[in-house]
Amino acid sequence: MRYNLASYVYEPINTLLEKPTGIRKARRELIGKAYGKVIELGVGTGLNLPLYREDVEVIGIDVSEGMLKKAERKKSPAKVKLLRGDARSLPFPDESFDTAVSTFFLCVVPEKERVLSEIKRVLKPDGLLLTMECSPTRNPVFWNFLRGLSSLTSKITGTDFRIDIGELLRRNGFEVIEEKNLVNGAVRILVAKPSPEP
Ligand SMILES: C[S@@+](CC[C@H](N)C(=O)[O-])C[C@H]1O[C@@H](n2cnc3c(N)ncnc32)[C@H](O)[C@@H]1O
Repeated sequence: MRYNLASYVYEPINTLLEKPTGIRKARRELIGKAYGKVIELGVGTGLNLPLYREDVEVIGIDVSEGMLKKAERKKSPAKVKLLRGDARSLPFPDESFDTAVSTFFLCVVPEKERVLSEIKRVLKPDGLLLTMECSPTRNPVFWNFLRGLSSLTSKITGTDFRIDIGELLRRNGFEVIEEKNLVNGAVRILVAKPSPEP
């Protein structure tokens, strides 16, 4: 329900913020790395859909009907299928995707360990996880603001800047192969792959 409500304001706010902060350009670069069969978790209003290459096949999953309705209107060069579902329990066989995409999703979703275990299960062992997430910033003034904001937003939309996503990925069976910061570190871009099982 709260994501259905959020679907009305999410895109206007993002359209305003993403270009000047460099997030829009970073989305394009990140999504350009997607290959083969792609699962996008928490696809939202489909901001990434126009950015996929035409040779990929994307399944976008989201719990919110409101978000998915907006995503349905997006044009994409790729072949896209949208599905209502919960990333904590993905309706796909093991090792069925080459790429998993999470933008501003892991920093929002509850039960992150369970979600990551599902992502790892459905990704091929040589697959890629592409993420762009809210993150703790090293700027002390900005950090005080975002930490305060997170104690509020984590209760409303789940959005939380206090989680170190790189650390979360490493603890949950992923090897981070690229890491970049944006907006003073408040946004982190990580490319990861499943670590080999011990
Ligand atoms: C902050 S939005 C990000 C949307 C999009 N990825 C983007 O980059 O603009 C988070 C999205 O995650 C979805 N979501 C939250 N919990 C979920 C879950 N357990 N399974 C699937 N989607 C979920 C919400 O409905 C919302 O659309």
